[in-house]
Amino acid sequence: MSSTSQRLPSDCTIRLPNGAFDTYSEPRALETSEIAGIVDQFRNAACNARRAGFDGIEIHAGHGYLLDQFLKDGINDRTDAYGGSIENRCRVVLEVLEAVDAEMGREGRTAIRISPVIDHLGATDSDPVALGLHLISELNKKKLAYLHMTEPRFNNKGASGLMDTADDCGIFRDAYNGVLMRSGGYTRESGMETIRSGGADLISFGRLFISNPDLPLRFAIESKLNEYDRSTFYTHEQYEGYLDYPCLSEKEVSEGWAALRRRRKSARSGRTLPGSLRLNSGASGSGSGPSCGGQRVLYNNNMLPSPSPSPRTPHTPLLAASPTLYSSYD
Ligand SMILES: Cc1cc2nc3c(=O)[nH]c(=O)nc-3n(C[C@H](O)[C@H](O)[C@H](O)COP(=O)(O)O)c2cc1C
Repeated sequence: MSSTSQRLPSDCTIRLPNGAFDTYSEPRALETSEIAGIVDQFRNAACNARRAGFDGIEIHAGHGYLLDQFLKDGINDRTDAYGGSIENRCRVVLEVLEAVDAEMGREGRTAIRISPVIDHLGATDSDPVALGLHLISELNKKKLAYLHMTEPRFNNKGASGLMDTADDCGIFRDAYNGVLMRSGGYTRESGMETIRSGGADLISFGRLFISNPDLPLRFAIESKLNEYDRSTFYTHEQYEGYLDYPCLSEKEVSEGWAALRRRRKSARSGRTLPGSLRLNSGASGSGSGPSCGGQRVLYNNNMLPSPSPSPRTPHTPLLAASPTLYSSYD
């Protein structure tokens, strides 16, 4: 089901259990009368999560999924109250937000992820900036935990080539009054820089987290990262590609902390060490390019396991991992 009964373009493919890629099946446009039931499903999901002890919920309204299919006019061809104008296309998202927020019972327990400037899975819009700004003006009326925005860098497409650098999301940063999380192609360094410069409050990581299950720790000690293996993305395997990347060994961790302390000490004393210690977990090679993630983890350096006294940076940006299931990101 979708906002439309039009098929996705044939270059949008899904990975099957046997590893082959196929086109998506033909969608069925939801009847107007069915939409309240969809909103209720989100409400029920929130209820189940709350009763199961979840601290909060992130509503996914991006990446070409159902809610994004309502938001974007490249897909949404409806003529009812859920199609046409930007206000109408945002309607179901705001209804879901209202329902989930009410179910969570307290302010700041609900978050939302949107990707107005991403052309993923056929979810294109003729005016993504106007769409994003309108949505944000509505989100500003709520007390959300955070707004999570995915940027074009995650697939290098972007909406009509409009935005191809993180800095271009500044327009949304300026418009949003709450906590902003940004995602897409970030490294430790670019994430820290974005937070330091005020471009975001949180950064989420996808690929880097998949290939580095101990990513927060590696970031904290500035360790080398495992490279991700693209061929194992989106598999239907339980294990391969998701749970088979190695963590640092205890020895590597303690060496990493020691090296970090040495580097910081020498930086304080104005000396430069000849190169910095690089840790290599051994199994998956090395590199610090973008990679991936399975769990949602929010942390800062104060929450990381560390020897005493723990090295602290003067400013400790929050970092987060993205949830990942299966899709077709680069
Ligand atoms: C293997 C893989 C699976 C993913 N699955 C999903 C998914 O199911 N839903 C989703 O919204 N994003 C998914 N993503 C996208 C990530 O959440 C994230 O937005 C993207 O990887 C960009 O962040 P990165 O540059 O840090 O990897 C997936 C990414 C990868 C690499």
